[in-house]
Amino acid sequence: MKSCLLLILLIYFFSQGDSSTFNENFAISWGNDHVKLSKDGQTVQLLMDRVSGSGFASKNQFLFGSFNMKIKLVPGNSAGTVTAYYMSSDSSAHDEIDFEFLGNLPKKGYHLQTNVFASGVGNREQRIKLWFDPTADFHNYSILWNQNQLVFSVDSIPIRVFKNNERIGVPYPKNRSMKIIASLWNGEDWATDGGKVKIDWSNAPFIASYQGFEVDGCVASASSKSCTGHWWQQPEFQGLSRNQLKRLRWVQRNYMFYDYCKDKSQSFSSVPPECAINP
Ligand SMILES: *[C@@H]1O[C@H](CO)[C@@H](O)[C@H](O)[C@H]1NC(C)=O
Ligand SMILES: *[C@@H]1O[C@H](CO)[C@@H](O)[C@H](O)[C@H]1NC(C)=O
Repeated sequence: MKSCLLLILLIYFFSQGDSSTFNENFAISWGNDHVKLSKDGQTVQLLMDRVSGSGFASKNQFLFGSFNMKIKLVPGNSAGTVTAYYMSSDSSAHDEIDFEFLGNLPKKGYHLQTNVFASGVGNREQRIKLWFDPTADFHNYSILWNQNQLVFSVDSIPIRVFKNNERIGVPYPKNRSMKIIASLWNGEDWATDGGKVKIDWSNAPFIASYQGFEVDGCVASASSKSCTGHWWQQPEFQGLSRNQLKRLRWVQRNYMFYDYCKDKSQSFSSVPPECAINP
């Protein structure tokens, strides 16, 4: 009897797999007929042509949690296109957490730009190259967000950490709930080689595919203060482990080619204070 119950419990836990169907958590938000949902609800394709790009967004807003998406990027010549996976609040001085995949000429490879906005202030771009071909397969792009840190990961390898540095006056996204948003859009005026390489429309439609749709966050209204006591607030998620830190350093050393903290051409009056502290 007991082992039977255990078995049922085990089946229950393992069936809480790592993917959900699109319709459970998301809805189309832009370019209706440019969004293609597979019959089983497990894959969404975003299309872009001369007429429109497209996008989808979560039905709920979240304050903290763990948000994972599997994405296969536009293959071939994707120059000028931007495939995005991000979170954003809708208030005017808004918060935002960005993964932006900047298309490129086939031989050059994608650039992944991350950014963080807090209380309407962004200008915190970092850019990396990837250690695999992101157009060949789905890869797992994730955001861990709690009161202490924001961790961007690619296939569970941390590529960026933005710590809560409010004690030295750096705003941190922590009191505005955000939607999860995905989109494919025309960024040819800036995305590829500073805007010099434009979209070659003879390759349209451009297609980016999404799977996974994993959402494990505190569903919140914009003013909620009740998002405490979840697993992502446990001590082990308040900072990186030694092993994670090692992997982050590996990414920074080998794949990061732009960091706002080191950009002398930016019009910062001085290096932003968080730069000395974020790992
Ligand atoms: C994606 O990465 C996150 C963060 O490392 C991890 O928690 C999650 O299990 C991964 N999802 C899949 C489907 O691999
Ligand atoms: C949210 O935080 C900002 C600064 O980080 C503050 O100005 C604002 O009043 C806060 N809003 C709420 C609803 O607590």
